[in-house]
Amino acid sequence: MSGLAFTASTELSDYAEKLIRGRHATRAFRSEAVPDDTMRAIFSLAGAAPSNSNAQPWRVEVVSGTKRERLAGALRAAHAEQRTSADFPYSEGMYAAVHQERRAAFGADLYGALGIGPDDHAARAAYDAESLRFYGAPHAAFLFVTGDGGPRLAADVGAYLQTLLLAMAAYGVASCPQGLLSFYADTVRNELDVTEGRLLVGVSFGYADESAPVNRVTAGRAALEATTAFHA
Ligand SMILES: Cc1cc2nc3c(=O)[nH]c(=O)nc-3n(C[C@H](O)[C@H](O)[C@H](O)COP(=O)(O)O)c2cc1C
Repeated sequence: MSGLAFTASTELSDYAEKLIRGRHATRAFRSEAVPDDTMRAIFSLAGAAPSNSNAQPWRVEVVSGTKRERLAGALRAAHAEQRTSADFPYSEGMYAAVHQERRAAFGADLYGALGIGPDDHAARAAYDAESLRFYGAPHAAFLFVTGDGGPRLAADVGAYLQTLLLAMAAYGVASCPQGLLSFYADTVRNELDVTEGRLLVGVSFGYADESAPVNRVTAGRAALEATTAFHA
Protein backbone atom coordinates (compact mmCIF):
# COMPACT_ATOMS: atom_id res chain seq x y z
CA MET A 1 0.00 0.00 0.00
CA SER A 2 3.03 2.32 0.11
CA GLY A 3 2.46 5.41 -1.99
CA LEU A 4 -1.30 5.30 -1.42
CA ALA A 5 -2.64 7.90 0.97
CA PHE A 6 -5.11 6.62 3.55
CA THR A 7 -8.48 8.27 3.16
CA ALA A 8 -9.88 9.83 6.30
CA SER A 9 -12.80 7.90 7.72
CA THR A 10 -16.32 9.29 7.50
CA GLU A 11 -19.42 8.53 9.49
CA LEU A 12 -20.51 6.11 6.77
CA SER A 13 -17.14 4.36 6.52
CA ASP A 14 -17.11 3.96 10.30
CA TYR A 15 -20.54 2.30 10.08
CA ALA A 16 -19.35 0.13 7.21
CA GLU A 17 -16.26 -1.02 9.12
CA LYS A 18 -18.45 -1.88 12.09
CA LEU A 19 -21.15 -3.61 10.05
CA ILE A 20 -18.95 -5.59 7.66
CA ARG A 21 -16.28 -6.59 10.19
CA GLY A 22 -18.88 -7.11 12.92
CA ARG A 23 -20.83 -9.76 11.00
CA HIS A 24 -19.85 -13.32 11.83
CA ALA A 25 -21.30 -16.70 11.07
CA THR A 26 -23.42 -17.73 14.07
CA ARG A 27 -23.83 -21.43 14.91
CA ALA A 28 -26.04 -21.35 18.02
CA PHE A 29 -29.31 -19.41 18.21
CA ARG A 30 -31.98 -18.55 20.73
CA SER A 31 -35.45 -19.81 19.86
CA GLU A 32 -37.36 -16.51 19.68
CA ALA A 33 -38.63 -15.50 16.27
CA VAL A 34 -37.67 -12.39 14.36
CA PRO A 35 -40.72 -10.08 14.28
CA ASP A 36 -42.55 -9.85 10.94
CA ASP A 37 -41.81 -6.16 10.41
CA THR A 38 -38.08 -6.70 11.02
CA MET A 39 -38.19 -9.65 8.63
CA ARG A 40 -39.81 -7.54 5.91
CA ALA A 41 -37.34 -4.67 6.44
CA ILE A 42 -34.38 -7.07 6.13
CA PHE A 43 -35.54 -8.82 2.97
CA SER A 44 -36.61 -5.56 1.40
CA LEU A 45 -33.13 -4.12 2.06
CA ALA A 46 -31.46 -7.26 0.69
CA GLY A 47 -33.39 -6.74 -2.54
CA ALA A 48 -31.30 -3.59 -3.08
CA ALA A 49 -28.39 -5.88 -4.01
CA PRO A 50 -26.76 -5.19 -7.39
CA SER A 51 -27.12 -7.57 -10.32
CA ASN A 52 -26.01 -7.67 -13.94
CA SER A 53 -28.37 -5.40 -15.94
CA ASN A 54 -30.54 -5.32 -12.81
CA ALA A 55 -31.97 -8.73 -13.74
CA GLN A 56 -32.28 -9.72 -10.02
CA PRO A 57 -32.17 -13.44 -10.87
CA TRP A 58 -32.91 -14.63 -7.32
CA ARG A 59 -35.86 -16.34 -5.74
CA VAL A 60 -35.87 -16.43 -1.95
CA GLU A 61 -37.89 -18.85 0.15
CA VAL A 62 -38.07 -18.08 3.87
CA VAL A 63 -39.21 -20.81 6.24
CA SER A 64 -40.32 -20.53 9.88
CA GLY A 65 -42.61 -22.25 12.40
CA THR A 66 -44.05 -25.69 11.72
CA LYS A 67 -42.80 -25.67 8.12
CA ARG A 68 -39.30 -25.16 9.43
CA GLU A 69 -39.76 -28.12 11.81
CA ARG A 70 -40.95 -30.32 8.96
CA LEU A 71 -38.15 -29.25 6.68
CA ALA A 72 -35.50 -29.91 9.36
CA GLY A 73 -36.93 -33.42 9.77
CA ALA A 74 -36.95 -34.03 6.02
CA LEU A 75 -33.37 -32.79 5.68
CA ARG A 76 -32.18 -35.07 8.48
CA ALA A 77 -33.96 -38.02 6.86
CA ALA A 78 -32.44 -37.23 3.45
CA HIS A 79 -29.01 -36.98 5.09
CA ALA A 80 -29.43 -40.29 6.95
CA GLU A 81 -30.48 -42.00 3.71
CA GLN A 82 -27.69 -40.26 1.73
CA ARG A 83 -30.25 -38.75 -0.65
CA THR A 84 -28.12 -35.81 -1.74
CA SER A 85 -29.25 -33.66 -4.68
CA ALA A 86 -26.98 -30.68 -5.34
CA ASP A 87 -28.03 -28.33 -8.13
CA PHE A 88 -24.47 -26.99 -8.35
CA PRO A 89 -21.67 -29.55 -8.62
CA TYR A 90 -19.21 -29.83 -5.74
CA SER A 91 -15.76 -31.34 -5.58
CA GLU A 92 -12.85 -31.01 -3.18
CA GLY A 93 -10.75 -30.50 -6.30
CA MET A 94 -12.22 -27.06 -6.85
CA TYR A 95 -10.00 -25.75 -4.05
CA ALA A 96 -6.35 -24.77 -4.56
CA ALA A 97 -3.72 -25.74 -1.98
CA VAL A 98 -3.87 -22.30 -0.35
CA HIS A 99 -7.66 -22.62 -0.02
CA GLN A 100 -7.24 -26.02 1.60
CA GLU A 101 -4.80 -24.54 4.13
CA ARG A 102 -7.29 -21.81 5.06
CA ARG A 103 -10.12 -24.35 5.30
CA ALA A 104 -8.07 -26.62 7.56
CA ALA A 105 -7.13 -23.71 9.85
CA PHE A 106 -10.77 -22.64 10.07
CA GLY A 107 -11.93 -26.23 10.72
CA ALA A 108 -9.37 -26.62 13.53
CA ASP A 109 -10.66 -23.43 15.20
CA LEU A 110 -14.33 -24.33 14.77
CA TYR A 111 -14.15 -27.94 15.89
CA GLY A 112 -11.62 -27.00 18.58
CA ALA A 113 -14.18 -24.61 20.09
CA LEU A 114 -16.64 -27.50 20.12
CA GLY A 115 -14.12 -29.78 21.86
CA ILE A 116 -13.88 -32.04 18.78
CA GLY A 117 -10.36 -33.24 17.98
CA PRO A 118 -8.78 -33.09 14.50
CA ASP A 119 -9.04 -36.85 13.90
CA ASP A 120 -12.50 -37.34 15.38
CA HIS A 121 -14.22 -37.67 12.00
CA ALA A 122 -17.34 -39.25 13.52
CA ALA A 123 -17.92 -36.30 15.86
CA ARG A 124 -17.34 -33.82 13.03
CA ALA A 125 -19.83 -35.67 10.83
CA ALA A 126 -22.39 -35.75 13.67
CA TYR A 127 -22.00 -32.01 14.18
CA ASP A 128 -22.48 -31.36 10.46
CA ALA A 129 -25.60 -33.56 10.42
CA GLU A 130 -26.95 -31.66 13.41
CA SER A 131 -26.43 -28.39 11.53
CA LEU A 132 -29.28 -29.46 9.22
CA ARG A 133 -31.52 -28.29 12.09
CA PHE A 134 -30.33 -24.80 11.14
CA TYR A 135 -28.11 -24.62 14.25
CA GLY A 136 -31.30 -24.07 16.25
CA ALA A 137 -32.24 -20.91 14.33
CA PRO A 138 -36.00 -20.26 14.12
CA HIS A 139 -35.80 -19.27 10.44
CA ALA A 140 -33.97 -20.24 7.27
CA ALA A 141 -33.85 -18.56 3.87
CA PHE A 142 -33.11 -20.51 0.70
CA LEU A 143 -31.54 -18.66 -2.20
CA PHE A 144 -32.37 -20.01 -5.64
CA VAL A 145 -30.74 -18.89 -8.88
CA THR A 146 -33.45 -18.44 -11.51
CA GLY A 147 -33.05 -18.17 -15.30
CA ASP A 148 -30.63 -20.85 -16.57
CA GLY A 149 -29.00 -21.02 -13.12
CA GLY A 150 -25.53 -20.66 -14.68
CA PRO A 151 -22.41 -19.30 -12.98
CA ARG A 152 -22.93 -15.72 -14.18
CA LEU A 153 -26.36 -15.61 -12.59
CA ALA A 154 -25.00 -17.33 -9.47
CA ALA A 155 -22.61 -14.36 -9.08
CA ASP A 156 -25.66 -12.07 -8.82
CA VAL A 157 -27.16 -14.29 -6.16
CA GLY A 158 -23.80 -14.21 -4.34
CA ALA A 159 -24.11 -10.41 -4.25
CA TYR A 160 -27.63 -10.83 -2.89
CA LEU A 161 -26.33 -13.24 -0.24
CA GLN A 162 -23.81 -10.79 1.18
CA THR A 163 -26.32 -7.93 1.05
CA LEU A 164 -28.78 -10.11 2.97
CA LEU A 165 -26.20 -11.05 5.61
CA LEU A 166 -25.29 -7.40 6.14
CA ALA A 167 -28.95 -6.32 6.25
CA MET A 168 -29.51 -8.93 8.96
CA ALA A 169 -26.47 -7.76 10.91
CA ALA A 170 -27.70 -4.15 10.68
CA TYR A 171 -31.02 -5.19 12.24
CA GLY A 172 -29.32 -7.19 15.01
CA VAL A 173 -30.18 -10.53 13.44
CA ALA A 174 -27.48 -13.22 13.42
CA SER A 175 -27.00 -15.59 10.51
CA CYS A 176 -25.09 -18.53 9.14
CA PRO A 177 -24.86 -19.12 5.39
CA GLN A 178 -24.93 -22.91 4.96
CA GLY A 179 -23.71 -24.43 1.72
CA LEU A 180 -24.50 -27.80 3.28
CA LEU A 181 -28.22 -27.09 2.95
CA SER A 182 -27.84 -26.87 -0.84
CA PHE A 183 -26.82 -30.53 -1.00
CA TYR A 184 -30.47 -31.40 -0.38
CA ALA A 185 -32.05 -29.22 -3.08
CA ASP A 186 -34.80 -31.72 -3.98
CA THR A 187 -35.82 -32.04 -0.33
CA VAL A 188 -36.09 -28.25 0.03
CA ARG A 189 -37.99 -28.02 -3.27
CA ASN A 190 -40.47 -30.72 -2.28
CA GLU A 191 -41.10 -29.39 1.22
CA LEU A 192 -41.57 -25.77 0.10
CA ASP A 193 -43.29 -26.49 -3.24
CA VAL A 194 -40.61 -24.67 -5.19
CA THR A 195 -40.86 -25.13 -8.94
CA GLU A 196 -38.28 -22.66 -10.23
CA GLY A 197 -34.52 -22.16 -9.91
CA ARG A 198 -31.41 -23.93 -8.66
CA LEU A 199 -30.57 -23.89 -4.97
CA LEU A 200 -27.30 -22.05 -4.29
CA VAL A 201 -27.22 -21.73 -0.49
CA GLY A 202 -29.37 -21.66 2.64
CA VAL A 203 -29.07 -19.08 5.43
CA SER A 204 -30.10 -19.89 8.99
CA PHE A 205 -31.00 -16.80 11.00
CA GLY A 206 -32.40 -15.50 14.26
CA TYR A 207 -30.94 -14.12 17.47
CA ALA A 208 -27.53 -15.35 18.59
CA ASP A 209 -27.06 -17.41 21.73
CA GLU A 210 -24.24 -15.26 23.08
CA SER A 211 -23.39 -17.81 25.77
CA ALA A 212 -22.41 -20.53 23.25
CA PRO A 213 -18.60 -20.90 22.94
CA VAL A 214 -18.95 -21.75 19.23
CA ASN A 215 -20.17 -18.22 18.61
CA ARG A 216 -16.87 -16.85 19.86
CA VAL A 217 -14.94 -18.44 16.98
CA THR A 218 -13.59 -15.73 14.70
CA ALA A 219 -12.24 -16.50 11.25
CA GLY A 220 -9.20 -14.46 10.21
CA ARG A 221 -8.62 -13.25 6.68
CA ALA A 222 -5.76 -13.39 4.22
CA ALA A 223 -3.55 -10.32 4.05
CA LEU A 224 -4.68 -7.72 1.52
CA GLU A 225 -1.60 -8.36 -0.66
CA ALA A 226 -2.42 -12.09 -0.84
CA THR A 227 -5.70 -11.45 -2.65
CA THR A 228 -5.53 -7.98 -4.21
CA ALA A 229 -3.24 -6.21 -6.66
CA PHE A 230 -3.36 -2.51 -7.42
CA HIS A 231 -2.36 -1.65 -10.99
CA ALA A 232 -1.45 1.86 -12.04
C1 LIG B 1 -21.42 -19.76 0.41
C2 LIG B 1 -21.11 -20.09 1.86
C3 LIG B 1 -21.36 -21.35 2.34
C4 LIG B 1 -21.12 -21.65 3.70
N1 LIG B 1 -21.44 -22.90 4.16
C5 LIG B 1 -21.36 -23.15 5.49
C6 LIG B 1 -21.86 -24.38 6.03
O1 LIG B 1 -22.36 -25.26 5.31
N2 LIG B 1 -21.79 -24.56 7.38
C7 LIG B 1 -21.27 -23.60 8.20
O2 LIG B 1 -21.26 -23.82 9.42
N3 LIG B 1 -20.78 -22.43 7.74
C8 LIG B 1 -20.83 -22.18 6.40
N4 LIG B 1 -20.41 -20.98 5.90
C9 LIG B 1 -19.84 -19.97 6.81
C10 LIG B 1 -18.30 -19.87 6.64
O3 LIG B 1 -17.68 -20.94 7.30
C11 LIG B 1 -17.84 -18.52 7.19
O4 LIG B 1 -18.46 -17.48 6.49
C12 LIG B 1 -16.31 -18.34 7.09
O5 LIG B 1 -15.66 -19.32 7.84
C13 LIG B 1 -15.87 -16.96 7.54
O6 LIG B 1 -16.32 -16.74 8.87
P1 LIG B 1 -17.27 -15.51 9.24
O7 LIG B 1 -18.47 -15.57 8.34
O8 LIG B 1 -17.63 -15.73 10.68
O9 LIG B 1 -16.48 -14.26 9.02
C14 LIG B 1 -20.60 -20.66 4.55
C15 LIG B 1 -20.33 -19.38 4.05
C16 LIG B 1 -20.58 -19.09 2.74
C17 LIG B 1 -20.34 -17.68 2.22
